[in-house]
Amino acid sequence: MLGKHSKLIFLVSMLVLLVAIVLAAWGFQKIVDKQIQKSVQLENNSLMFDKWQKLPMPLDFKVYLFNVTNVEDVNRGKKPILNEIGPYVYKQYRERTILGYGPNDTIKYMLRKRFEFDPVASGDLTEDDEVTVIHFSYLAALLTIHDMMPSLVGVINKALEQFFPSLEDGFLRVKVRDLLFDGIYLSCDGDNAALGLVCGKIKTDTPPTMRAAESSNGYYFSMFSHMNRSESGPWEMIRGRENVYDLGNVVSYKGKDSMPMWGDQYCGKINGSDSSIFPPINENNVPKKLYTFEPDICRSVSIDLVGKSEMFNISSYYYEISPLTFGAKSANPDNKCYCRKNWSANHDGCLLMGLLNLMPCQGAPAIASLPHFYLGSEELLDFFQAGVKPEKEKHNTYVHIDPVTGVVLSGVKRLQFNIELRKIDNIPQLNNVPTGLFPMLWLEEGATIPESIQQELKTSHKLLSYVQVARWLFLAIAIVAVLVSAAAVARSNALIPWPRNSNSVSFILGHNVAANKGH
Ligand SMILES: *[C@@H]1O[C@H](CO)[C@@H](O)[C@H](O)[C@H]1NC(C)=O
Ligand SMILES: *[C@@H]1O[C@H](CO)[C@@H](O)[C@H](O)[C@H]1NC(C)=O
Ligand SMILES: *[C@@H]1O[C@H](CO)[C@@H](O)[C@H](O)[C@H]1NC(C)=O
Ligand SMILES: *[C@@H]1O[C@H](CO)[C@@H](O)[C@H](O)[C@H]1NC(C)=O
Ligand SMILES: *[C@@H]1O[C@H](CO)[C@@H](O)[C@H](O)[C@H]1NC(C)=O
Ligand SMILES: *[C@@H]1O[C@H](CO)[C@@H](O)[C@H](O)[C@H]1NC(C)=O
Ligand SMILES: *[C@@H]1O[C@H](CO)[C@@H](O)[C@H](O)[C@H]1NC(C)=O
Repeated sequence: MLGKHSKLIFLVSMLVLLVAIVLAAWGFQKIVDKQIQKSVQLENNSLMFDKWQKLPMPLDFKVYLFNVTNVEDVNRGKKPILNEIGPYVYKQYRERTILGYGPNDTIKYMLRKRFEFDPVASGDLTEDDEVTVIHFSYLAALLTIHDMMPSLVGVINKALEQFFPSLEDGFLRVKVRDLLFDGIYLSCDGDNAALGLVCGKIKTDTPPTMRAAESSNGYYFSMFSHMNRSESGPWEMIRGRENVYDLGNVVSYKGKDSMPMWGDQYCGKINGSDSSIFPPINENNVPKKLYTFEPDICRSVSIDLVGKSEMFNISSYYYEISPLTFGAKSANPDNKCYCRKNWSANHDGCLLMGLLNLMPCQGAPAIASLPHFYLGSEELLDFFQAGVKPEKEKHNTYVHIDPVTGVVLSGVKRLQFNIELRKIDNIPQLNNVPTGLFPMLWLEEGATIPESIQQELKTSHKLLSYVQVARWLFLAIAIVAVLVSAAAVARSNALIPWPRNSNSVSFILGHNVAANKGH
């Protein structure tokens, strides 16, 4: 029976083998990739979309403050002793409002962050703690005047004495709550003529850290309240429907496709994602660098591939910040376009290793760095007697990424804000202090995906591994089918073309038949 159809069966199994080979080599992967793309792309109904639009869990937003413990000594020219206090932990909720879709596979949205103090995660620390930190807004105002119109600095300082409450020196004694979100009241009511100048300047510049008081003539200064009160954007991002490896790339921010304040193509380039979403990683071509765009510092930063890692039993790739990101010009010549303002007489407008001038970005003479000047110049540490000590584990910036979906399994972003403490002779508050870069606080923004999403990822990885098994199983079955049907063909063909074999077969059969007949 088999013999009659063996040729047909052989042909069919050959065909199945061919299909199996094509599928194993190429088709299955294509189907799987398509399936993954469908679930990660920013498209209505994709698995990722809802999570992207409204983050399912809050991020941790942690603030560490540098409490100055020897203010009197510093005012007499001694080196500062700092005491890091933190973390003050806030939950950060994120939600995106979709504005529309662009022609080049883009989506346009506003990003809204909302902050809530987390007393449990903050432990013994409360928002009512009193700290003594560098007086950021006072120094920002004074340094700006000192650089632009040094002859006016004395007059303006008289006005600032009325503007800021109890301005004894370059340090601010304040409740954490007021410093970070609620605000310190600054009064524009006063008899000093220059006070009008100061308040007028704030009115025209509208720095984000100042918000106008509603019922009086003055302002509230706070570090982060603006982030809780307003949306950022519009952002324009690639949806990954056409090329999934472009997923999440920011193509414009606030309607601009580069950051004009650096006056340079390279430094102004908007590269990479908003750090909430990354494309899947092609295991045959793992990117050496990933970029994220950080509007708070008006630039893109890169993180470098370190290697494979294991997170919650999910194999992942680990990337961390490289010394070259905030590298000085000598270490990273590309960074010379971030040099804007003379830092001191013996510098060429570029800052030391590990620093970024935020003046062009925020209009205030603030300097960004990694916490405790990690990856920064050792010179920066000489300014302190104690309390500043960079450590990789605590001050690094990194992500662990699931290569299959590009989901960030765990990651943190850390940034410190500093301002210069400057000895200025005719300013009583500052005429004896040492000059140097002074940290105010540092931030950690991070998340680890919750158990439920870990399980979801593991389940989808398991399904993928089944698909991989199925692909080889199918191939194996096809090969076996071809071999079996080939044997069957060989056997049925054997009756005709090979007389010797046929003889031997008929000899046995014939003998039996003959024997049977004989009876
Ligand atoms: C997505 O769905 C919303 C309604 O749920 C619809 O208004 C919108 O047009 C859809 N967008 C696309 C690109 O299909
Ligand atoms: C900060 O330091 C001051 C001394 O300068 C101290 O009185 C205050 O208690 C410290 N704050 C905290 C929260 O430890
Ligand atoms: C879309 O891409 C093309 C080619 O890259 C470009 O010329 C065009 O300006 C883009 N359109 C928008 C709206 O960005
Ligand atoms: C952020 O704003 C909301 C109101 O929109 C407010 O309830 C919340 O307390 C604010 N968060 C902080 C940390 O001040
Ligand atoms: C932007 O990305 C390109 C590669 O995609 C890289 O060569 C360039 O250095 C990056 N620029 C910045 C400023 O990060
Ligand atoms: C990881 O897998 C090992 C065995 O494969 C298991 O013993 C361990 O409990 C797993 N850990 C987690 C966090 O799932
Ligand atoms: C910085 O130095 C350059 C010369 O190197 C000088 O022309 C410029 O005025 C200085 N700028 C400031 C703000 O001091």
